[in-house]
Amino acid sequence: MHVQDRPVATKAEKDTTPARYAVMGNPVAHSKSPVIHKQFAHQFGHNIEYAALWVDTDGFAEAVQQFRAEGGKGLNVTVPFKLEAFSLADNLSERAKLAGAVNTIRFEVDGKIFGDNTDGTGLVHDLTKNLNVHLRGRKILVLGAGGAVRGVLGPLLKQNPALLVIANRTVPKAKELAKTFAQFGKIEAVGYDELVGKRFDVVINGTSASLKGEMPPLPVNVFAGNAVAYDMMYGDKPTPFLEWAMLHGAETAADGLGMLVEQAAESYLLWRGVRPETRHVIAALRKG
Ligand code: ATR
Repeated sequence: MHVQDRPVATKAEKDTTPARYAVMGNPVAHSKSPVIHKQFAHQFGHNIEYAALWVDTDGFAEAVQQFRAEGGKGLNVTVPFKLEAFSLADNLSERAKLAGAVNTIRFEVDGKIFGDNTDGTGLVHDLTKNLNVHLRGRKILVLGAGGAVRGVLGPLLKQNPALLVIANRTVPKAKELAKTFAQFGKIEAVGYDELVGKRFDVVINGTSASLKGEMPPLPVNVFAGNAVAYDMMYGDKPTPFLEWAMLHGAETAADGLGMLVEQAAESYLLWRGVRPETRHVIAALRKG
């Protein structure tokens, strides 16, 4: 018997030019998104093209219009354009409204721009499905109060944790976020010094500290038994936060590579109507 290693593209797909997608950012050269989406398309035999497009900081709106005019079907949006993409969208998903930012654009047939945000769902998927971390009834600590954190609070609170605490150096920013999200669950905002004596089941680093080789000023004993440390950033080696976490009682330490692939899978679902398998894609990226 002949066994196919992947679904075969339909005749119609073979005959047509590829459906075009891209990620726009600045910088964008090291983006893993093209490799991820290529692997997703391969799973379904979809005929797509996915590029990483560097865009001038004041040329985002123009670049989006041009991409659409050239027949583009959808975009991922990364730093620093997620807020601009939010403003540009004609219609927004509920989760994009909550996040206040857009990381996925779909060009509708009527010419409208639909804006979504798949970051928070990507994080929750990675935690619950890939790492088997249950969030319901647990105590979650989120570090940071910037755009990256805002994007994940809604989906995290949807999991019904017992408590979600946001810690930030600049406390008013954390308080503002807690106020905005209070309607979705039990949420508190604190400064790092107020964490002394408190313990958490899941600690998520959403600060940009890892980018600078730094880590947030956490007190020792912040991890409860069997705690999980998660860094939304990723790199070739463990971030300072993850290294510290393993030395200070976390049972599991995970970086944000899984979140990256899961948010991409959610984008793919929005564009193509099917959600790709992610485990093998994450494993392949880890191997490099
Ligand atoms: P992003 O959009 O990636 O979230 P951002 O809006 O600039 O970026 O937010 C960066 C976050 O990382 C902030 O919460 C920042 O804390 P402050 O608001 O107090 O500045 C946090 N951050 C950056 N470096 C940090 C460090 N070394 N220790 C702790 N927090 C840090």
